Amino acid sequence: MKLFLDTANIDEIREIHAWGVLDGVTTNPSLIAKNGGDFIQTVHDIAELVQGPVSAEVVAQDTEGMIREGRLLAKVHEHIVVKVPLTPQGLGAVRALTDEGIRTNVTLCFQPAQALLAAKAGATYISPFIGRIDDISWGGGELIDQIVQIYANSSQITTQVLAASIRHPLHLVDAALAGAHVATVPYGVMRRLLDHPLTERGNRKFLEDWATVEDTDIVGQVERWLAARSA
Ligand code: E4P
Repeated sequence: MKLFLDTANIDEIREIHAWGVLDGVTTNPSLIAKNGGDFIQTVHDIAELVQGPVSAEVVAQDTEGMIREGRLLAKVHEHIVVKVPLTPQGLGAVRALTDEGIRTNVTLCFQPAQALLAAKAGATYISPFIGRIDDISWGGGELIDQIVQIYANSSQITTQVLAASIRHPLHLVDAALAGAHVATVPYGVMRRLLDHPLTERGNRKFLEDWATVEDTDIVGQVERWLAARSA
């Protein structure tokens, strides 16, 4: 499963990118507004850093307007994926953009039938919102399960399931178990993926024990060992 970061904050992206696990980034108008700064320069800089798919969302609500915005956004960087809301006008825009070879991420998906329509329109990604479904006491995990199954049932569908609105580490596990192709994870959740008291405690104990050995310098030991071996 590919891992995207769900943020428009370049510092957060830089930090997680350094982990060597980041495949892409998703933004939305709320995340762009929260981050501040220039929208186009921000998505360009993110795409340049990540060198993977970066979703940038249209705000027009009519098909022609979405197509116009989508075409322009796609020119900003080769890695931009045009994010389009799952409305009748959005579906028409996805079909047109797909036919022009522009990748799309169809967002705000809350039920499997919507995902089927997005796939029929040629979406590159479908974004079901797990957290927002759980917020209204429905099953976000089940939504991912059903979409993955529906897509697997048709050899003609190439749309990738991008699990979005992830609120905690278990949402990511649910998405991976269901077979989602991608999950987009907010920075705070990404940090929490690494939090485990046994990892921290175990690492501390290893270091305490290592401090009791005679020579703690591994680099020096290896260099001396290699030199002696090649002598
Ligand atoms: C990303 O593509 C979505 O816009 C995002 O995951 C929504 O997350 P939220 O429900 O926490 O706002």
